[in-house]
Order: sequence, then C-alpha cells, then structure tokens
Amino acid sequence: MSQNPPDQTSPELWAAVDAYMSAALPDSDPALAAVQAANAAAGLPSIDVAPNQGKLLHILARLIGARRILEIGTLGGYSAIWLARALPPGGKLVSLEFQPRHAEIAQQNLETAGVGDLVEIRVGPALETLPKLEGHEAFDFVFIDADKESNAAYLDWAIRLTRPGGLVVCDNVVRRGGVIDPDHPNTATQGTRRFFEALAKEKRLTATGLQTVGVKGWDGLVIGIVEA
Ligand code: SAH
Ligand code: DHB
Ligand code: MG
Repeated sequence: MSQNPPDQTSPELWAAVDAYMSAALPDSDPALAAVQAANAAAGLPSIDVAPNQGKLLHILARLIGARRILEIGTLGGYSAIWLARALPPGGKLVSLEFQPRHAEIAQQNLETAGVGDLVEIRVGPALETLPKLEGHEAFDFVFIDADKESNAAYLDWAIRLTRPGGLVVCDNVVRRGGVIDPDHPNTATQGTRRFFEALAKEKRLTATGLQTVGVKGWDGLVIGIVEA
C-alpha cells in the first residue's frame, strides 16, 4: 500500500470510500432509499445531495436547533426529507422549486416519508417566491441548491431571511475545479464565481468553503453563520 498509494485523483476510489462509509454508518430511514428509487423511476436527474451530505445537513440543522428551514431547489425532495427529519414538532421547512413536475413528485415523496405536514413547497422561480417570505418569522437555516446562475442573489436573500446565528449552506461551489477559471464557458460556473465575489464583500456572513469528493465526484460546499 505504501509503495503503491492509491491514485488520489480517482473518482472511482472516492465513490468506493463513500460506499464503505455508508455501509459502516447505514441510515435506517427507508424513506430515503424509496425517494431515490421514485425519482429515478420518474426520470428526474440524479443530482440530489449524496446521502452523507444529506446527513450533514440534518446534523447541522439539529446542532443549531433549527425550527424553520428554507431550501432553494427541491427537485424530488431528497435533501428536503433529511432537513425535515431534523425539525422538532411544529417546525417548518419551506422549499422553493421552479418546475411544477419536480414539486409534484417531491410532494408525493414527502407524504410517503411522513413529513408532508412539516414541509411547504412553493412553486415558481425562486427570485419571485423569495420576496414573499419577507416579513415572516426568520429562518434558522437556508440551503441554497437551485440554478447556480442566481447564487449571488440567493445569498443576499438567504442572509436577509435568516436570524443572527443562523446558518447558510450553498451546494456545488467547486464544479470539478471549474470555479477557479475566470473564462469558464459554463454559466453555472460563472454564477458560482459571482457568488464567491459577493461572499468576499459580505459582512453579514462568516463563511468557509470546503471541497468534497465522493459519489458525486469533486465538488464542494460553502457554510456560513449569519452575523448580528
Ligand atoms: N436540493 C435537491 C436538489 C435540487 S436540484 C436535493 O439535494 O435533493 C436543483 C433544483 O432547482 C431543480 O429541481 C430545479 O428545477 C430547481 N430550480 C432551477 N431553477 C430554479 C429557480 N429559478 N427557482 C427555483 N428552483 C429552481
Ligand atoms: C449538479 C449537481 C447538483 O448537486 C446540483 O444541485 C445541480 C447540478 C450537477 O452535477 O450537474
Ligand atoms: Mg446540489
């Protein structure tokens, strides 16, 4: 092993290590596997968070005692179930989704998982549904995971809608390393770069970026705490 170290750049090895850890730390919730199967059967893209990332979101939400969570980008409700499972009785997850079909499938999955009452999916472009959340009770946690082109705007909304000491997490901030390329042709990657530029100027959030490897390849998360 020491003479032949495994290739650290191998996506196959990253996925195998994720499989190893998932086997070592299995999740007993049958709803999660059921949702992945239902989403695949419905032909949704399999771009939900990885199981260990979903569990990280769940643990973070519980750590801060989150009672109100906002998600931007529902897809089939996989991350929503992890987040909803972290809520206390009477807690609430609002999840924003642009595609009515995604929202319908997610609603079904959430009901099957028994968390339908805790989750409200709002359908429409998030830049139109976010302003309607203003003036209500602040959120404890916002998870940004929709169209990356709008991430700088979502960051601003997330901070405005979150209480001091609350948490903001943004998915997919590394994009296989593409984020460091100022001339990257992908509009999502450019959106992520604008997100980091906004973050750099942002006094209301103390944030860090973490790279991740695993079943979803090479990507990363930004995690930040809202300042008073
Ligand atoms: N959070 C989900 C994955 C979300 S994938 C999970 O981990 O399980 C991104 C989702 O954002 C897709 O369902 C897509 O339809 C939605 N989306 C794209 N543009 C959007 C917009 N402008 N407003 C709201 N949702 C949007
Ligand atoms: C992709 C992955 C995501 O987690 C996401 O939210 C959007 C896109 C992707 O791999 O393309
Ligand atoms: Mg994502």
